[in-house]
Amino acid sequence: MKIAISTGGGDAPGLNAVIRAATLSAARRGWDVVGIRDGFNGLMFPELYPTGGMIELTRDMVRGIGHLGGTILGSTNRGNPTAFPVQQEDGTWVTVDRTDELVGLFRAAGIDSLITIGGDGSLTIARRLSDAGLPVIGVPKTIDNDLDKTDATFGFDTAVEVATECIDRLFTTATSHSRVFVVELMGRYAGWIALNAGVAAGAHAILIPEIPFSLEPVAEMIARREARGARFAIVVVAEGATPKDGERMILGKAHDQAERLGGIGNRVAAELEHLTGKEARTVVLGHLLRGGTPTSLDRLLGTRFGAAAVRGLEEGHRGVMVALDPPHVNFVPLVSAINKLRTVPIDCDTIVTARDLGISFGD
Ligand code: F6P
Repeated sequence: MKIAISTGGGDAPGLNAVIRAATLSAARRGWDVVGIRDGFNGLMFPELYPTGGMIELTRDMVRGIGHLGGTILGSTNRGNPTAFPVQQEDGTWVTVDRTDELVGLFRAAGIDSLITIGGDGSLTIARRLSDAGLPVIGVPKTIDNDLDKTDATFGFDTAVEVATECIDRLFTTATSHSRVFVVELMGRYAGWIALNAGVAAGAHAILIPEIPFSLEPVAEMIARREARGARFAIVVVAEGATPKDGERMILGKAHDQAERLGGIGNRVAAELEHLTGKEARTVVLGHLLRGGTPTSLDRLLGTRFGAAAVRGLEEGHRGVMVALDPPHVNFVPLVSAINKLRTVPIDCDTIVTARDLGISFGD
C-alpha cells in the first residue's frame, strides 16, 4: 500500500499533527507514505520543485513536528484542479476540469489512496477525485469551524485561544485610555471564532454574520457603560459580519480565489466614534489566528484524525471524511460534509449566555 497525503486551502494549526499521526499509523502497517507539496501542485507541476514535488514521509521526516504550526508540505488555495484557471489570448480566464488527469498522475506515481486535509474547498475537490475513482479520505481542517457533520475541526481551538489572549491584552490598554477597541477576527461566513473568543474574553459587543447588526444598540450599550463609570468598551466583529442595511465587506477577489473578506472593523470603529463621540481604534488580528503553535486540543484532535484516516483506509472506507462525534471519531460521506456550511445557531447556549450577561449583538 502506498498512500499520499496533501494539505490544501488556508493552513490551520494542527496540520502537522495530522501528517505525523497518519505517517506513523501507516508506517506501523508497513505502508509507504508520500506527501504532495502545495496541495496537488507537487504532483501536477513537478518541474516547479527542484528537489521533487513529493516528499517521502518516514518516521524520521515527521519526528518532532506535532507541535509546529503550518504544514511541512506547504499549501495553496489557488489552482483548483477540478476548475483549473487558464488565461485566454484575449486576457480573459476560463476553467478546465483536470480531475481525470490528476487521478492518472496518482496512478502513474503508484499511489493507491489519498488522505487530503482541508476545508470545504479541498474536500469538494476530494469528492470529485473520489467520484473519478481515486480512493480518498478527507480530514476536516479549518480555523473557521464551519464544516458540517463534524463536532469540531482542528485549528479552531488555537484561533480562539490566540484571539482571546489578544482581546485580554486590549482590555488593559482600552481601560487606560478610555477608548473603544474594535477587534476584527477571521472566520469567513461563520461567527464561531468571534463568538467564542468574545464571550471568553468578556467583550461588550460581538457582531457575527449570523445576526445582521446595526450600531445604534452598540452605541447605547457603550453610553450605558459610560454612565456607570466604565469608560471603555471592546467590540468584537467577525470579518463576515453584515450591517442590517448594508453588504458584507470584501477586500477583493482574484480570478482563481475565494473572495477576501475584511474592512468591517474600520467601518464599525468609524461609525461608533461618530455615534458615541469616543475615540475608537481597530485591531485586525488576521492571519495571527492561523499561525504558531497549536493548542494541545488541536494537536490531539489532529492526531486522532490522522490515525483515524489510516484506520479508515484499512477498513475499506472510501469517499468519506473523518468526523468528530464525541466520544468517537467516525466516517461520514464527503458529500454530506460539504453540502452546507455550519454556521452559529442563533439560539445556541453561548449566545443565550452572552445575552444573559448583557453582551450586545447589535440587534
Ligand atoms: O478559511 C480560513 C481563513 O483564515 C478565513 O477565516 C479567512 O477568511 C481566509 O481563510 C483567509 O484566506 P487567505 O489566507 O487566502 O487570505
